[in-house]
Amino acid sequence: MEPRDEMPEGYRKTLVRQIAQHAHSEIIGMQPEGNWISRAPSLRRKAILMAKVQDEAGHGLYLYAAAETLGADRADLLDMLHDGRQKYSSIFNYPTLTWADVGAIGWLVDGAAIVNQVPLCRCSYGPYARAMVRVCKEESFHQRQGFEILHTLAHGTPAQRAMAQDAVDRYWWPSLMMFGPPDDDSPNSAQSMAWGIKRFSNDDLRQRFVDMTVPQAEALGLTLPDPDIRWNEERGHYDFGDIDFTELFEVIRGNGPCNQQRMDHRVAAHEDGAWVRDAASAYAAKQAERAEG
Ligand code: ACO
Repeated sequence: MEPRDEMPEGYRKTLVRQIAQHAHSEIIGMQPEGNWISRAPSLRRKAILMAKVQDEAGHGLYLYAAAETLGADRADLLDMLHDGRQKYSSIFNYPTLTWADVGAIGWLVDGAAIVNQVPLCRCSYGPYARAMVRVCKEESFHQRQGFEILHTLAHGTPAQRAMAQDAVDRYWWPSLMMFGPPDDDSPNSAQSMAWGIKRFSNDDLRQRFVDMTVPQAEALGLTLPDPDIRWNEERGHYDFGDIDFTELFEVIRGNGPCNQQRMDHRVAAHEDGAWVRDAASAYAAKQAERAEG
């Protein structure tokens, strides 16, 4: 489907909902890692982290632009984020307590994002699919940098190793929750899959992520905080323990550890930027006037 094609109103609405939530996640996702830019342990780490956080802003921009091709107005979408009518990913409501959290976010959170987003490169809506191609390439780099941070810490002093393990312990379960509720409790999945917006179910992608990540944890020499993880020969997949989905629903409802902080920061940044939007609009109006004259 392309922007000028005729499409059912439900299809358009579902796309705007998902793409807007995705865009909001990218820009809110700048906050937990932005927290560590001024405290990165070296100039090299700081430069990499700044570039990564900037990439996330760029992903937000591609996605808002994709939503605009469906007739959505970017200012309206931001208003809906700010007053809670639209959501953003649960994962960004957890704090980044140590430098190792930057590694865990890159490895696990961006790893989960890739598993979720690679199939979207072939979803049924052209502008969303095309935006995902570049996003996925950049996310792959982000994931590698997170893995490398954790690898360095895991092979460092005992205190550094403990810091890496603690970050993985805190980020593992929330990363599994990023894939959404279980399939039988996912109201949008059936229709979105029928329309080719989603190509795999929440549980299938979650399983794919576990299968990909367990050997990587072994390579890092870190453990995943789930005693039930074991290879299941019959299924050809790793089994894993039960996820506490009440935590996911609480975080989505606004009751995660950092929801309030994330929204307050976002709204303040938006208000502080009002003069830039006003200046850009005034400039555009002046240019249009000149073009007419
Ligand atoms: N965090 C916040 N909300 C969530 C999450 C989550 N992890 N998982 C599900 N939800 C919301 C859904 O948005 C939906 O809410 P809504 O109907 O009010 O819009 C509700 O919970 C029910 O879930 P589903 O029926 O499973 O919803 P859906 O079919 O949209 O699937 C999913 C959710 C998998 C997140 C899908 O929207 C998707 O693939 N989105 C694109 C990827 C994305 O947004 N990634 C953002 C994080 S990655 C990153 O930026 C690094």
